[in-house]
Amino acid sequence: MSFQIPRGTQDILPGEVEKWQFIEKTARDLCERYQYKEIRTPIFEHTELFARGVGESTDIVQKEMYTFLDRKGRSITLRPEGTASTVRAFVEKKLYANPSQPTKLYYIGPMFRYERPQTGRFRQFVQFGIEALGSNDPAIDAEVISLAMSLYQTLGLKSLKLVINSLGDAESRIAHREALIAHFEPRIGEFCSDCQKRLQQNPLRILDCKKDHDHELMASAPSILEYLNDESKAYFNKVQQYLTSNGIDFEVDPGLVRGLDYYNHTAFEIMSNAEGFGAITTLCGGGRYNGLAKEIGGPETPGIGFALSIERLLAALDAEGVSLPISSSIDCYLVAMGEAAKDRTVSLLFEMRKAGLKAEKDYEDKKVKAQFKAADRHQAKYVAVLGEDELVKNVISVKNMETGTQEEVPIDGVIEYLKQQRN
Ligand code: HAM
Repeated sequence: MSFQIPRGTQDILPGEVEKWQFIEKTARDLCERYQYKEIRTPIFEHTELFARGVGESTDIVQKEMYTFLDRKGRSITLRPEGTASTVRAFVEKKLYANPSQPTKLYYIGPMFRYERPQTGRFRQFVQFGIEALGSNDPAIDAEVISLAMSLYQTLGLKSLKLVINSLGDAESRIAHREALIAHFEPRIGEFCSDCQKRLQQNPLRILDCKKDHDHELMASAPSILEYLNDESKAYFNKVQQYLTSNGIDFEVDPGLVRGLDYYNHTAFEIMSNAEGFGAITTLCGGGRYNGLAKEIGGPETPGIGFALSIERLLAALDAEGVSLPISSSIDCYLVAMGEAAKDRTVSLLFEMRKAGLKAEKDYEDKKVKAQFKAADRHQAKYVAVLGEDELVKNVISVKNMETGTQEEVPIDGVIEYLKQQRN
């Protein structure tokens, strides 16, 4: 019997995994600069958290969750996203009581959605996300957006488009909701069964429907921007002002509604404009969710964040032909000729590693020529050859693989020699 990987998942093998590590390190360094601290929450949560947090009427909750009963009959769900869990931890662990506010958190980890797999869409994917809880300052909206843009730019992406919108506060949303119902209701029979349910449940979701995307009522639907009250308008203007004054280009798209229910005020997405990127161009999505902490049993706390997947980021790097500066070279490959020399290289190898050098040797009793080939595959900067003659003289022959020059060095001094070459 042979096994295959489940649909929509990936094995990330050596050669590829270094890119992931590089991206993750860049993200962590950036978070350090912006003072976001890491949070690690469980891979699974009680289903109710996502039903409440992400929203009953969303595709995620309706169709895409990996939900099962545990042995005690409790409904458990593999997390489809990171915001609900982060806010749950913020509430449960009373992070709001810390003197230092806002609470700025980030996470990197796998998420699970039962979607139809295609390029850029997986059933298990890794999100890097940040959440800032406890501030209603539009400057933090600009900060969150700036961090996402910085990550992409630091990694070398150029063809990016930032799209923003405001979904307004509760009052604005109620006014917009009524306008949407009035707009769609007379012809709701022409829409899919999901949209018919959405009409009363959450008419904003209709605008995001993939099936009814081309219906003529979609383009003429009332725009949220016309229904923003003065406060919401002022907030949105301030966010735009901060983006502009900090050199972050953006477009306002009143059609950007996002696929999760918890949003209000600022919503944004970052797309790739790169040619040949494929159908799914959204790299990153986020926004403000001022009611979420209260919704899941905590104190009224404003919040904003984003999430992006490493999978789509890698696809964008590929589409733009950006290669990450990853080096997998080693300091020294040890080549042994003869049994006695082999024994000596084993201890030398261990000593090299203790001294902090990246070192490797052959374990298959290969011929000398094949050992040199292996050294090349490891991109060794130096190859140190120990044969019987060298052993008698207590020296080792060190070859610089870049210049081709070779030197005999006392065995006891070779580690110091290699360390000096490295500096
Ligand atoms: P989202 O728009 O559902 O938002 O997902 C954010 C990002 O996750 C997407 O832009 C995409 O990069 C990635 N993503 C989503 N689904 C898949 C998939 N099936 N395969 C590969 N990548 C995927 C959220 O998840 C919100 N929690 C974001 C947020 C944080 N809002 C506020 N804070």
